[in-house]
This record gives sequence, structure tokens and C-alpha cells, in this order.
Amino acid sequence: MSKAFEPIHAVKGTRDLLPSETWRWQKIEDEARRMFAAYNFREIRTPILERTELFARSVGEDTDIVTKEMYTFADRDHESLTLRPEATASVVRAYLENRLYNEGGVHKLYYMGPMFRRERPQKGRYRQFYQIGAEVLGSDHPSIDVEVLEMLVLYLERVGLKNFTLLLNSVGHPVCRAEYVKVLRRALQSVKANMCEDCQRRADTNPLRVLDCKVEADQPIIAGLPKILDYLDPECRQHFDRVTSELKQRGIAYEITPRLVRGLDYYTRTTFEITSGALGAQNAVLGGGRYDGLAEMIGGPPTPGFGFSIGEDRLVLAVAEATGQAAASSLGQAPGPPLIAYIAWMGDAALVPAATLARELRHRGLSVEIGYEPAKLKKSLGVASKLGSRFAIIIGEGELASGRYQVKDMTRGQQEEVEPARIAEYVNSKTKERTEEVL
Ligand code: HAM
Repeated sequence: MSKAFEPIHAVKGTRDLLPSETWRWQKIEDEARRMFAAYNFREIRTPILERTELFARSVGEDTDIVTKEMYTFADRDHESLTLRPEATASVVRAYLENRLYNEGGVHKLYYMGPMFRRERPQKGRYRQFYQIGAEVLGSDHPSIDVEVLEMLVLYLERVGLKNFTLLLNSVGHPVCRAEYVKVLRRALQSVKANMCEDCQRRADTNPLRVLDCKVEADQPIIAGLPKILDYLDPECRQHFDRVTSELKQRGIAYEITPRLVRGLDYYTRTTFEITSGALGAQNAVLGGGRYDGLAEMIGGPPTPGFGFSIGEDRLVLAVAEATGQAAASSLGQAPGPPLIAYIAWMGDAALVPAATLARELRHRGLSVEIGYEPAKLKKSLGVASKLGSRFAIIIGEGELASGRYQVKDMTRGQQEEVEPARIAEYVNSKTKERTEEVL
């Protein structure tokens, strides 16, 4: 007797993306690739596994990500490795390691892929999630920040996201930020006793992190703390003013949000997030900012940088919500590519001609399905209809004898005899006719 095994489930916080949803992901990704090409970004692919040290140094030793959320393990040779919780540090490492800076100029790189953070799973928050991100390396010019923000706004509009808000701040550079942190630390001494445990600890270890605390009861206290924008030195102030004035010139709306210091330590100057009303508690669709000191933190020459990461899981959710599950937007069409033809063959003699026709049509890029077993005509037409096929091509004894196959238009019910060599052309012209009618 065979042993009964317990079923195996996916790991908590991870999920399968099934064909009924992957078409939405593909459209989001296709549109992103188009946008990146238009703004002259090129793709980079970095490993999912990195040395733990990379994230400890760049994201920061006292951040939630590094202290609580990383999937870190000792490799068989005892080296500490981590599944990447984000990709900016990896992109900068790859830029330095491959000496891309030798090519000179500004590098505009983009990536897409899974990230891993051991957070408490909920709607829009997963332990394996996906990001689409981009980084501009090699310039600290404020116009870079503005151009990237413009690209993001255009992209979100194009994929059909409505009601989103660009939140903007500056965290200065290390020198003026240190001044601000002193002031913040002092202010926190008198209020920290009323705050959550994490805030009490961070008031001493890393006061900036107090600002991105999400605990409800702490919010009024945080709102009353000193604001970093009042402590920027003249150069950081000028950079921020230039970003905001260029945003205005380009008609890009933003909200200045002084507490937006972001949950990663590498930021300098501009920080931003875009939130969407279509999401619940996890309403940040994307986040990013400038990180002019990151390259040095990981042992490279000074290299200013600016970038963002879109939470793809959240964008897919928000777009589906904003466009209605089947609305007429470009992202709301029926799932999957349309099946053009189902080949219904009857009798063993029809198998080889049916397979030959399927191969020819597929070779020309048409989507074709074929039954594996001979079946009665009625049953085959039922399958064609269930699969949503535009045509059924019928090959039986009669068709083999005449050398012409029956091509049935499943949407109109009409049927015509067509020579096998002309079928591709025939279905193409009919499909085009139909599209023109619909338009
Ligand atoms: P981040 O704010 O940590 O920034 O993540 C960016 C986005 O990823 C978030 O706004 C959110 O949409 C999504 N995200 C984060 N964690 C999760 C999760 N557990 N489940 C689902 N979605 C999530 C970064 O990662 C920086 N690397 C951004 C950046 C690029 N800064 C400069 N360049």
C-alpha cells in the first residue's frame, strides 16, 4: 500500500501567480520596458543572493529590514549570505565591481524581479514580493530627480492608476543631517517615554527611524517633532528648491512630507514615495530617492545616485482596482493572448495533416491548439468554444479526400472550405476584418 503524504503548501508570505493574473503582470512589465526604453534606461540583472555585509552596510544596521526582516543564512562554507531585500545596493555593487564608471557619463539602469523580506503578511505585503526599479548613477543634478519623477508619473497614468499622490522630502546630506539628528534626539528625550518600544530604543540608537514608525498612537507625537527641512544647509536647500521648482514647471503635483525619511539609511537629499488611494494600509506603490554616499559605503569611489522601486504586487492590485476588473482600459482586457485556431481532427489518418497544419500556423506566430485524441466533431467544437478559439479547423475523411479543410468562424458561425496552404492568410485577413469592425 502506498503511503499517504501530507500535502505541501507554499511558504507563508509567498504565493503562486496563476495564469488568470499573470497577464496583468506582463502588461505592467511590458509598459515599464517601453517607458524605460523611451527614457534611455538599460536593463541590469544582478544575483538574488548577495553577501550579508552588502545590505548591513548600505541599508543600515539599525533598520527594520536588516534587524528583523532579512532571510540570512550561513552557506556551507560558513559565509553569511542573504536573499536580497532590495536591489539598489546590488545595482551599485555591480556598477562598481564591473567598473561601469570607466565608460564615463551617467548610467541609467533598470531591473525587475523578486525581493525577500520577512514581514507580517497582509494584503499588499508579502515575504517574496516583486519590484520594478531604476537607478541613475553618476550625477547629483536635481534635474535627474525631476526627470525620473516625470517618467514615473507618466508611467502610472499609462498603466491606468488613478488617484495617486507624490510625497516629497529632503533628508539633506550627512553633515546637515547630523545637526538635525542632534536636535531630534534632544526633542525625543522629553517625549519618548510615551512612545512604542521600538521608538524608545531608536530615540537613542537612530532617532531618524522614529519618523517612519507606523504605530498609530505615536503619530501625534511624531507630528510635533522638529522638521528636517528646517535644518538643511544652503546647498541641500538649493538642491531641494531646484527639484520643487522644476516639478512645478513641468506641472507635476507633489506634497511636501517632512517625516518621509524612508526606512533605509543610504538616502541623501531627495526622498519620495507615491501612494495610492486604491490600496489599504500598505498604500505606498513605490519609493525612492537620492543616495549620493552609497557607493562609498560599499567601498567604491564617490558616485551620486538617484532611483526608485515600484512594488509590482501593489501596482497590479491598485491598477486592477482603479480600472475595474474588466474595464475597457488597456490593462483591463481579457486575460491571455487570444487563441486563433483549434484544430478538430477525426480519424487516425487526419492526425499527421492536423499536426502539420498546427506547426505551420504556429510557426507564423498564430496561437493554435490541437486535441491529442481523435474526437467526434461536436465534442471538438465544444472544446474550441470553451477555449475561446476564434476559428475551428475541421479535418475529417471528407476534407482529406478533397484536399480542402473546413474553417469555422466561431464568433459568426460561418464555415468555409480553404486549402491548407492558404489557411494562415485566410484567418489573418478575417481576424483583421473583425478588429476593424469592432473599432
Ligand atoms: P522600499 O520603500 O523599501 O524602497 O520599497 C519600495 C516599494 O516596494 C514599496 O513602496 C512597496 O511598494 C514595495 N514593497 C516593499 N516591501 C514590500 C513587501 N513586503 N510586500 C510587497 N511590496 C513591498 C526600496 O526598496 C529602495 N530600493 C528604493 C530605491 C531605489 N531607492 C533608491 N533607488
